[in-house]
Amino acid sequence: MSTNHVDATSEAAPCVMVIFGITGDLTKRKLIPALINLAQENLLSKQFAIVGFAMNDYTTDSFRKVLGEEIPKFAPEAIDLKMWKWLAERIYYIKGEFQDAEAFQRLKQQIVDAEKQHDIAGNRFFYLAVAPRFFSPVVQQLGAAGLTQEENGNWARVIVEKPFGHDLESARQLNSELKKVLNEKQIYRIDHYLGKETVQNVMVFRFSNNIIEPLWNRNYVDHVQITAAETVGVEHRGAFYETAGALRDMVPNHLFQLLTMTAMEPPISFEADEVRNKQAEVLHAVQPLSPEDVLTCMVRGQYAEGNADGQRVVGYRNEPDVAHDSNTETFVALKLLIDNWRWAGVPFYLRTGKRLASRATEIVIQFRRTPFVLFRNTAVRNLETNRLVIHIQPDEGISLSFGAKVPGSVMRLGLVNMDFDYATYFGAEHGTGYERLLRDCMAGDATLFQRSDMVEAGWNVIQPIIDVWRALPARGFPNYAAGSWGPVDAEELLFRDGRAWRCIGEEDVDLHGPHASHDKDKVGTP
Ligand code: BG6
Repeated sequence: MSTNHVDATSEAAPCVMVIFGITGDLTKRKLIPALINLAQENLLSKQFAIVGFAMNDYTTDSFRKVLGEEIPKFAPEAIDLKMWKWLAERIYYIKGEFQDAEAFQRLKQQIVDAEKQHDIAGNRFFYLAVAPRFFSPVVQQLGAAGLTQEENGNWARVIVEKPFGHDLESARQLNSELKKVLNEKQIYRIDHYLGKETVQNVMVFRFSNNIIEPLWNRNYVDHVQITAAETVGVEHRGAFYETAGALRDMVPNHLFQLLTMTAMEPPISFEADEVRNKQAEVLHAVQPLSPEDVLTCMVRGQYAEGNADGQRVVGYRNEPDVAHDSNTETFVALKLLIDNWRWAGVPFYLRTGKRLASRATEIVIQFRRTPFVLFRNTAVRNLETNRLVIHIQPDEGISLSFGAKVPGSVMRLGLVNMDFDYATYFGAEHGTGYERLLRDCMAGDATLFQRSDMVEAGWNVIQPIIDVWRALPARGFPNYAAGSWGPVDAEELLFRDGRAWRCIGEEDVDLHGPHASHDKDKVGTP
């Protein structure tokens, strides 16, 4: 049960990191830049090496050279060249097929050589940056080559990227195949949302502020909205996206991370299993969806052509590698209920989509109206006063809106905002989001990684949606213009409950703004 918690200032343990699929995008965009950042902050051991394994035709020398040319083009921020040089000297390359036992023997030899060369005792972690169909074969080969055994106090861990399965059955199957070779403590199922500062901050915000937690329940909260909106389309991932769609791509993983962080009970410690137990409980408490619920409380959409990111863009069906009559959804909105003491009756509305009007991930806690309407006979009774917005990205921060009196001799009320902006307060955050996750894996802290039961619980929630949507393919796609906020039905989903999505990009009422004092719904005179 117990977990090593990472000392924020100390170097990670000496180890070899093996990256399967090292020639792919993830390595140059995220993994190498993250390792360089860790090295720069003295958080990576000097006794460290990377062994890359992929099918492409490179040698160690030619791979170091190519990576050196690509990193500056792909890394999200400028990288420290001195650090890159240091790291490049520790990168080795093995060419091989993911199912070839002989290639895994060569891999093993290379790992042993690198350990000797860099004085590493035998800790190893294996990063599966490969297509999901290779997750299980690679792990079976690692097992057969004896690379997953933990001997002489050394550890062997495996990081598995998403998507972890494509439905409940395949996720169970994958878990059972991995567990034939590894024990659960060796498996680190990664979700990059948990590497985001503000996602981690949801827990800190909730559990380190005594004024927040007492309000965080059905007595005070009217409903919760979780939005992950993107302006990009499917880019070059049409072939993958056709088999996934917005539901599988974003909901059981990223959106459920936000949901569980928001809704979980306070853990008794920050031990990995304690936190993950509390998150899993939330997923188990989600009210099971009947086919009728799927038809009435789930909305799917697909973008047509339109204007996004300041330019004319094609519809989803005209994207590369997408079928011209595709029924894959690029937008999903859902209403979930959590059947527990804290949240009974409080709807959680979730939505995510591509080619939406702006890029924003946020959690909105809409508090209930005051129980007694003091300002009777005024429009203020309609005022949605207290709303807390946790902005996850791109502008990380927290804002709270509340009612205030507009200065003047008559009693007029309006909404004001109290804003906390991460960048202003702490300075702009650098990094890829992978630094923390890689370091946690090296330290054996699995708190921010998914346990098998959590992954299965997530799929279990959405399986009825998959089933109904498969039986009843969408009609009327495409049903929203690129650059809009998604299909009209998504607005309707809240509207019929007497609610509305927060208008992202439009500030809550500004008392000094031109319409503040004219908006009858928001400003009243008793
Ligand atoms: C990935 C999805 O997991 O997350 C992508 O496969 C999506 O489709 C991405 O664009 C969103 O991540 P972020 O960090 O940009 O919000």
